[in-house]
Order: sequence, then C-alpha cells, then structure tokens
Amino acid sequence: AYEIASCLVGFGDVYKRQVFFYENKEVLRILQALRGTQDILPDNIYKWNHVESVIKELCALYGYSEIRTPMFEDTKLFLRGIGDTTDVVAKEMYTFEDRGGRSITLRPENTAAVVRSYLEHKLYGDQQVHKLFYIGSMFRYDRPQAGRYREFHQFGVEVLGASSPAADAEVINLAYTLFKTLGLKELELHINSIGDYKCRPIYRQKLIEFFEEKEDQLCDDCQARLHKNPLRILDCKEDSCRRASAGAPKITDYLCDECEKKFEAVKRYLAALEIPYLVDSRLVRGLDYYTNTAFEIQYPPLGAQSAICGGGRYDGLVEDVGGPSTPGIGFAVGLERLLLALEMQKLIPEPANRKKVYIVTLGEDAVVEGIKIQQHLRDKGVIAEIDLQDRSIKGQMKQAGKNNAEYTVIIGANEMEKKEAAVKNMENGKQQDIPFLKVSDFITGSSRQ
Ligand code: HAM
Repeated sequence: AYEIASCLVGFGDVYKRQVFFYENKEVLRILQALRGTQDILPDNIYKWNHVESVIKELCALYGYSEIRTPMFEDTKLFLRGIGDTTDVVAKEMYTFEDRGGRSITLRPENTAAVVRSYLEHKLYGDQQVHKLFYIGSMFRYDRPQAGRYREFHQFGVEVLGASSPAADAEVINLAYTLFKTLGLKELELHINSIGDYKCRPIYRQKLIEFFEEKEDQLCDDCQARLHKNPLRILDCKEDSCRRASAGAPKITDYLCDECEKKFEAVKRYLAALEIPYLVDSRLVRGLDYYTNTAFEIQYPPLGAQSAICGGGRYDGLVEDVGGPSTPGIGFAVGLERLLLALEMQKLIPEPANRKKVYIVTLGEDAVVEGIKIQQHLRDKGVIAEIDLQDRSIKGQMKQAGKNNAEYTVIIGANEMEKKEAAVKNMENGKQQDIPFLKVSDFITGSSRQ
C-alpha cells in the first residue's frame, strides 16, 4: 500500500511532480529530467560507446593519456581562468554555496580544471610535454535547444609545455582525424590568430575606438564590457552587436612579427597534412584565456549549433592561475552535437550481435541446473539469460523469441529425469537432447563450425 493519496502539483514545462504519502510522510517524485539535461538509455548507449572507443584508440595512437578531474571546483578557478566578462562566467555558471559556506561551481569547461590539476600535482616538474585527454559532463545555464544543453559532454585534449606551432597543428589534426575516422564529411575548419600580450593591446585599443562610435547600437552587456573586454563584442550573439561589428578592425592586421610567424607556421603544417582550412578573422572564441591560434570545426548541416569542436592556444593561463609560465593548447568536442551529426548521416554501426541463449526452466530443481549452464556459457563469453519472473513455460518461450535468442535451452520434468536439456536451434527449429554438463560446449562448439 505505497500510495494512500496522490496529487499532481506541477504541470509546467520544467517539472512534473507527484506527491505521494507513505506512512504519513510526503514523498516527492520528479517525473522528468530537468530542462537541458537528458538520460542516455540502454537502447542508445552503444552510440556513445562507439564514439568513445574511437576517441580512445585515436588518443592512444597520438600519445595522449586520460585525465579525470572533479565535476566541481572552487568558483575562483573559473573566474580567474575563463574571465569574468565572458558569457560563460557572467551568465552561464552553476554556482552555489556548499554547506561549509564555500563557493562551488559545476565545471562549465575543463581546460581551467586540467590546468589546476597540472599545477597541483606539479606535472611541470619533469620539463616534459604533457598530452592529456578527457571525456565528461560540463554544465552551462544557457537556453536549451537542439544541440545546446545545460548538461552536455565534451571530449577534450590539453597539451601543456609545448610552444611549437607543430603542437597547434597536431591538436587540430587529432580533432579533424577523429571526425574523418567516424565518417563525417563536409567539415569546415576555421582558424585565426588572436595575437598575444604584446600585440593584442594595440588591437584592443583600435576596437575600443571603433565601437565607441557605435556604442548606442550595442546591447547592455557589450556597452558594459566595451572598455574592459572589447573582443567579447565580436563574439556576442545579439543581432544588434553583430550588425555593429561589421567592418570592425581585423586582429590579423595587427599581429606582431612573432605572432605572424607562428600563424604562418601553423598554416604551413596544416597544408602539409592536407587539412583544408578557412582563415576567419572574426573568430575570437568565447573564453578569455586564448592567445595566438584559435580554431573551430563546424558541421554546417547541424544549423544554428554547428560548432562541433572549439579550441586554441592559451599560453598565459597557467601563469594566470598561479603557476610557472607554461604554454598550452587544446580543444573540446561537444559529444551530443557530434552524435547528432553522425545520426544524421547514419554513421553509427549497430552493436555487434553476440550469441544469445535463453534458458527455459520448470521448477526450482530445473533452475538449479539452468543457472549452472548459464554460468558455464557466460564463462565462455556467451550472452545467456534465464527467466527471473517465475513465468510459465509458454511465457518463457515467448521471451526467448523477444530476446532474439539463437538457442533455447529447455529444462522441464523429462529433462530433469534424463539429466539432459532440450537445446533448440531457433533459426532452423532443430532440437537435440544434450547432457547438462555438455550444453555449453555444444553451443560454443557449434558456433565455431
Ligand atoms: P567551447 O567552445 O566553449 O570551448 O566548447 C567546446 C565545444 O563544446 C563546442 O564547440 C560545442 O560543440 C560544445 N558545447 C559547448 N556548449 C555546449 C552546450 N551548451 N551544449 C552542447 N554542447 C556544447 C571549451 O569548452 C574549451 N574548454 C575548449 C578548449 C580546450 N580550448 C582549449 N582547450
């Protein structure tokens, strides 16, 4: 008698809640996942496993090791790392106070967290290049739509300690090769250089002068950040700001010789790798830590949320969060967007169909023999199921059909007497009596023939 009374209390888009009373205690049941989050159900998990296994193979081939960091960090890490005038920090973070009064944030991205870990464990001590990758959930409070969620998953890489443009080309190559390996065509790689601490201030001043003349056309946020962080205006999603940005000075016209040389080298290496690219001087990326190379890979058929990968170099970030001067470069791929693209093109193979056996039993003694046979089969890597609902023989035979079983092993009263199971090949309908102890050999042996 679980439910004494129930009443529906919420009909909004966001929640459907039911309140139940159990032993006079109110029990709240939330019937829908929160807006912008989604369940990955057993029928779909093979798609994720497919993509993740290709990622892991490729990372091994390129010499990248996996790193796992916590889902939440001290809020200060993201304020300092990503920049407090970015949309991600100013509008999209899931920040809360924990019971100890600390300000905690669910990671909106993982570059700052990987850098925190790199510093905390003094990985820089060995003077080596560290090539790291991760797969995991990120959280951003943005308006959900197709391809944009509040909890989403990223595969990302971070290379720390490598200043050569060859590292830029390598990470771009890794992202591009992943998409090609998965079968995607029609990719567009956009690249830009956004200079460094030497040349960016000159460009920044030019941008401020340009936008000061159009200040009244900018959204409130961009007016507020005009003098603090004018690059963010180029990245603003508001129509008025997009219009006002037409004709804005281009960063590539203000690069110093050193930045120009690095950008040329990256382009040369990409050409050598036969990776086509577009130089996109408007690409500034939405996070403050970038220097020099910035890039995005677009898959245009996805429409509004077509960026399946974004990344770039961040040579100042390690220092900004309190470490020794260390160059860094990386990217992150949005896995939901990548899966949407792969589904669109039917590029995800169906899961391999391993041999399936269904064991039908009548009575507890038969179950004893049945679970022993099941274990022998499982030990040999054969998928074997047995009834767990005490159903009738008829019900169990039906289930064998639903399971798409290749063999049904039947143990009824006659079989118990003879100590032999009736093994039925479901494809050709042939049935044979096989001693209990030989059933698993019979089934695995016949699969080899
Ligand atoms: P990001 O451009 O903010 O960069 O995100 C990278 C990718 O994550 C995007 O291109 C997109 O595919 C996916 N993504 C972002 N937000 C959402 C969302 N709300 N829903 C679904 N997918 C989303 C970064 O996060 C940097 N940490 C990348 C990086 C690594 N730069 C250097 N190292």
